[in-house]
Amino acid sequence: MAKVSVFGLGKVGHTLAACLGASGHNVVCYDVNPRLVAAINDRSLVSCEAGVDERIAGLGPDRLRATTGAVEAIRESDATFIIVPTPSNMLGGFSLRYVLDACRTIGDAIRQKKTPHAVSLVSTVLPGSSDRFIVPVLEQASGRRIGEGLHYCYNPAFIALGEVVRGFERPDYVLIGECEPDGGELIAAIHLMMVRNQATIVRMKAVEAEITKIASNTHETMRVAFANMLLSLCNEMPNADVDRITGALAHRIGKRFFKGAMPYGGPCWPRDNRALAVLVEALGGTSALLRAVDDSNAEHGAYVFRNLLNLSKPGDTVGIIGLAYKPGTPVIEKSYSVELARWLAAEGRSVIGWDPLAMDETRLVLSDTIAYASSAEQVLTQSDISVVAMPSPELSAVDWSAAGDRLVVDCWRCVPQAAQLKLKHYRALGHGEDAALGPWIAERMGNRFDVLCN
Ligand SMILES: NC(=O)c1ccc[n+]([C@@H]2O[C@H](COP(=O)([O-])OP(=O)(O)OC[C@H]3O[C@@H](n4cnc5c(N)ncnc54)[C@H](O)[C@@H]3O)[C@@H](O)[C@H]2O)c1
Repeated sequence: MAKVSVFGLGKVGHTLAACLGASGHNVVCYDVNPRLVAAINDRSLVSCEAGVDERIAGLGPDRLRATTGAVEAIRESDATFIIVPTPSNMLGGFSLRYVLDACRTIGDAIRQKKTPHAVSLVSTVLPGSSDRFIVPVLEQASGRRIGEGLHYCYNPAFIALGEVVRGFERPDYVLIGECEPDGGELIAAIHLMMVRNQATIVRMKAVEAEITKIASNTHETMRVAFANMLLSLCNEMPNADVDRITGALAHRIGKRFFKGAMPYGGPCWPRDNRALAVLVEALGGTSALLRAVDDSNAEHGAYVFRNLLNLSKPGDTVGIIGLAYKPGTPVIEKSYSVELARWLAAEGRSVIGWDPLAMDETRLVLSDTIAYASSAEQVLTQSDISVVAMPSPELSAVDWSAAGDRLVVDCWRCVPQAAQLKLKHYRALGHGEDAALGPWIAERMGNRFDVLCN
């Protein structure tokens, strides 16, 4: 059991605090927002993350508490996890202003104690940030050198909103970027008590961990963009089913992040891709792949949009089922569904949307430019075309017969099979139409196909 502090009680931070506490560590939290501090202490915090509320409810104040006093949080812990925002800046990089503020506060507090202290940064940063800025600020504020009463690790989380508890307790692996072995050892021991699977602990230099973190996300976007390219091919080519193709490829190259569907969005992937491109370019490396993935994602968004425009006409009502950027979260940041709703409304379609969790967030952004349904069935009943834009588990309980003889476009092929068969008009994006392929090619592509085969 370790005495641990968590700085930053946002979506990721409060979840880490809950998981650390539930695993037996003594956790004291700190946030600049006193409302979050109070919500931890009076157990009124309502988390969007599955599993957090139960974990927090089961912890006494000795195991999990929060304070607005940074000195107290540092005094009563031996290791601190920092999970504060690193917003994108105008140049596409990640601002360190919150991280460095937190480091100055933590360093000042370390200066006031006698025992060693370890600092572990979880926030996503640009590679090089730890060595260039974070460690020097910590050393200066604490009056200590790394390895001499001060430890530092870069310790990113590989998590997805909606599944953050799983990401901390059952990670694929734990990544620790260390400045010296003692710091890495200490942070590894804290994780080992929290993980509930056999996750490997991977230790490397801080800069290598910074690169690994951002490379992980950008590699995932590359796979999504590739699967989406295949979706568009199969959507155009008769008799082809994108899922059979990605399913076969998965035997060789793995199935994760490899489903053709909607463009990717959310608070991490789009910005990580751009930030890495900006850094690689600044270093004189090659960034074409990263830029291409970004462009490809935007092009895919335009492709899906064109399909929906072609299937509808001005004045039609288009329903969107699923507004968040992914299932299990109310977050709509860079959500393609929200963008789609905007574009469709601008093209004269009436739009009605529904999401299991993101209705309030969407209302704040789209206000009365679209209508809001209270259920997926209401969308199906009131729309000329309903678009299934997010593969949420709630869809298995939907009464799809509410669509009547109206069209359902399934971007994820996630409408349950039995319901698909009963729907009068069902279109799976990524499934080409049934046709005699030879004559179809001759008619549709004529000489253009023939010369490609010449
Ligand atoms: N959201 C994700 O899916 C995800 C995934 C992996 C990594 N990350 C990274 O984790 C970091 C945090 O993300 P989040 O979604 O939890 O952010 P968030 O905005 O939900 O929460 C950040 C919290 O930090 C607090 N804070 C700001 N300055 C502080 C300071 N000086 N001291 C203490 N607290 C401070 C804020 O009050 C807020 O409560 C970011 O770098 C993000 O890129 C996020």
